[in-house]
Amino acid sequence: MARLRKTCRAIALASIFSSTLALDACTRIQQAVSSASNVYYPVDLVGNYTQDIAHWASSSTQLSACSVEPGTAADVSIILQLLASTNTSFAVKGGGHTANPGFSSTTGVHLSMARFSGVSYDASRATVTIGSGLVWDDVYEALEPYGVNVVGGRASGVGVAGFTLGGGYSWKTNQFGLTVDTITAFELVKPNGSIVSVTASSEPDLFFGLKGGLNNFGIVTEFTLQTFPQGQVWGGLLTYAANEIPAVSAAVARFAANVTDPKAGIVSSYKFILGELHNADPRFQSHFKIYASQPLVAPILFYDGPSPPAGIFDDFLAIPHLSEDVRTRSLLSLVQSASSNASSGATRRAFHTASLLEYSPTMIDAIFNETIFWGTQLALAGLISMSYDIEPFLPSIYTHSTSPSAFPPRDANPPGYLPLNLHFAWTPSTSDDLMHAALRQSAAHLTQVAMNEGQAIVDAPLYTNYALYDTALERIYGPNLPRLRRIKKEVDPGNVMGLAGGFKF
Ligand SMILES: Cc1cc2nc3c(=O)[nH]c(=O)nc-3n(C[C@H](O)[C@H](O)[C@H](O)COP(=O)(O)OP(=O)(O)OC[C@H]3O[C@@H](n4cnc5c(N)ncnc54)[C@H](O)[C@@H]3O)c2cc1C
Ligand SMILES: *[C@@H]1O[C@H](CO)[C@@H](O)[C@H](O)[C@H]1NC(C)=O
Ligand SMILES: *[C@@H]1O[C@H](CO)[C@@H](O)[C@H](O)[C@H]1NC(C)=O
Ligand SMILES: *[C@@H]1O[C@H](CO)[C@@H](O)[C@H](O)[C@H]1NC(C)=O
Ligand SMILES: *[C@@H]1O[C@H](CO)[C@@H](O)[C@H](O)[C@H]1NC(C)=O
Ligand SMILES: *[C@@H]1O[C@H](CO)[C@@H](O)[C@H](O)[C@H]1NC(C)=O
Ligand SMILES: *[C@@H]1O[C@H](CO)[C@@H](O)[C@H](O)[C@H]1NC(C)=O
Repeated sequence: MARLRKTCRAIALASIFSSTLALDACTRIQQAVSSASNVYYPVDLVGNYTQDIAHWASSSTQLSACSVEPGTAADVSIILQLLASTNTSFAVKGGGHTANPGFSSTTGVHLSMARFSGVSYDASRATVTIGSGLVWDDVYEALEPYGVNVVGGRASGVGVAGFTLGGGYSWKTNQFGLTVDTITAFELVKPNGSIVSVTASSEPDLFFGLKGGLNNFGIVTEFTLQTFPQGQVWGGLLTYAANEIPAVSAAVARFAANVTDPKAGIVSSYKFILGELHNADPRFQSHFKIYASQPLVAPILFYDGPSPPAGIFDDFLAIPHLSEDVRTRSLLSLVQSASSNASSGATRRAFHTASLLEYSPTMIDAIFNETIFWGTQLALAGLISMSYDIEPFLPSIYTHSTSPSAFPPRDANPPGYLPLNLHFAWTPSTSDDLMHAALRQSAAHLTQVAMNEGQAIVDAPLYTNYALYDTALERIYGPNLPRLRRIKKEVDPGNVMGLAGGFKF
C-alpha cells in the first residue's frame, strides 16, 4: 500500500511538472473563486482530490493537475472563463460512471460537481430541481417522503448529470419516455460564462441540443425534471446457473415479445465471470466463488406497483434459481439491490452497444453465444467479467416527448430502439486495445445477426451513454447532427468545450 501510494505520488508529480500550464490555471482559479469553492492537489492522496477524480471504471480516471469543487454557478462561470482564456484542458465529472476514457477525466483541470447537491421539490408544478453532482440514489431518497419520483437511473451510484445529458433509459421509460423527455429546464453555464435557465421556450435550439448532447454546450449546474406519483414497486434480482439458461432465455424472449403492460420491465444480464469478482456486496461473494469461469444469467424484474398482475413474471420465478431477491419494496431499495458499486480500484472497463428492434429467441441465443465465445477468448488477456444486458422496452418509448431532442433522433418517427449494453471488465491496461476491438467486433456480429433475421437497424442510432468512445457521431445522432453542429457554433464559437473530452460536435 505504501509502495503503491509512493508510485501514485511519483506519477502525480510527473504529471504536475509536465503540465505547468494547467497548474498555473489551478492557482488562478483558487485566487478567483469564492469561499463556496475549493481547489485540491494530488499530494492529498486520501482526501478530496482522490474522490474527485475517481470513476466507476479505473480506465476512466486520469491524474489531473488539480481538482476543483465549484460551489456556485457564479464560480463555474469564473472557472470556465479562466480555462477558456488560458486554453487549459479540463474535465467535468458528475457521477463518474462513464465507461469511456477521457470523457470526464483530464491531465489538466478536473471539475467535480459534487457540491451541486440540492434537491428541491415543487409540488405545485410537479417538478424537482436537482444539483448536477448527485447520484440517483440521493434523488430517490429525497423524493420518497413526497410519494413521487423521476424517470431516473436503474443502478446504484450512477450520476444524474451524464445519464440525463445522454438520454436516460429508466424503469419508468415505458410509461414516460427517456429522462430527456421529462426535463423542463437546465441551469447552464454557457461556454462564454453566461448563466442561463434553458427551457423549451427560452432557447429551443439549446434545449434540444442539451437533451442528449452531453458536455458540448457548457456545464449544467441543475436539472429540473417532471415528477410522477410513486408508490411501492415489486421486483429485484434473480440468478440462474448455466444449465437453466435455455429456459430463462425463453422467458426473456416471451417477455420481450408479449408483455405490453408499461409498468413491467426487465434487464436480463448474460454474464461470464472469471475467477473471483471483487464485489463489495457480500451477498454475491459465494456465487462468484462457486461459479467462477461459468456463464450465468441474472435478470432484474421490475413492476411499478406493489405486486405484478399474474402471468407477467411467473415463468421466471418457476425456473430453479441460485438466488432470489424479489419482493415489494421502494424503488430506491430495488435500485440499490442492483449494486454497481462493485468496482475494485484496479478494474478497467468499457461499454459498447447495438440498437435492436426485437429480442427474438435467435437474437438472445446469439447474445449468450457471445459471452461464451469472448469469455473463453479473452480469459488470458485479463478479462475479469463481462455482461450483455438485454433491455426490452415497448416500441412506443420514443413517443412520450413534447419537443425533439439531440438523442434519440426521431425525425422520421422511428420505432423505439432497444439498447443492448455490452460491458467488459479487465485488469491489465495493455489489454485495452484488445478489449475495445472485441467489443466492436461483438457488437458488429450481433448487429449482423439481427439484420440477417430482417431487423431494419442499419441506421438505428446507438445510445450515447453505451457507445464506445470512437463511435462515429453519425451513428449516434443521425440526421440531428447538422443542426447540432450549427447550434454548437452559435453557443461556443471558440470551442471552449472542445478542451473537455467526449463525443464532440
Ligand atoms: C452500473 C451502470 C449502470 C447504468 N445504468 C444505466 C441505465 O439504466 N440507463 C441508462 O440510460 N444509462 C445507464 N448507464 C450509463 C450512464 O448513463 C452513463 O455511464 C453516464 O455517463 C453516467 O453519468 P455520470 O454523471 O455518472 O458520468 P460522468 O462520467 O460523470 O459524466 C459522463 C459525461 O457527462 C459529462 N458531464 C457530467 N456532468 C456534467 C455537467 N454538469 N455538465 C455538462 N456535462 C457533464 C461529462 O463531461 C462526461 O462527458 C449505466 C452505467 C453504469 C456504469
Ligand atoms: C471535500 O471536503 C469537504 C470538507 O473539507 C467535504 O465537506 C466535502 O464533502 C468533500 N468533497 C468530496 C467530494 O469529497
Ligand atoms: C489550445 O491548445 C490546443 C492544444 O491543447 C492547441 O491545439 C490550440 O492551438 C490552442 N489554441 C490557442 C488559441 O492557443
Ligand atoms: C453506491 O454508492 C452511492 C454513492 O456513490 C451510495 O449512495 C449508495 O448507497 C451505494 N450503494 C450501495 C448498494 O452500496
Ligand atoms: C407470444 O405469444 C404468442 C401467442 O400466445 C405465442 O405464439 C408466441 O410464441 C409468444 N412469443 C414468444 C417469443 O414467446
Ligand atoms: C458464436 O459467436 C462467434 C463469435 O461471434 C461466431 O463466430 C459464431 O458463429 C457464433 N455461433 C453461433 C452458433 O451463433
Ligand atoms: C454569451 O453568449 C450569449 C449567446 O449564446 C449571449 O447572449 C451573451 O450575452 C454572452 N455573454 C457574455 C458574458 O458574453
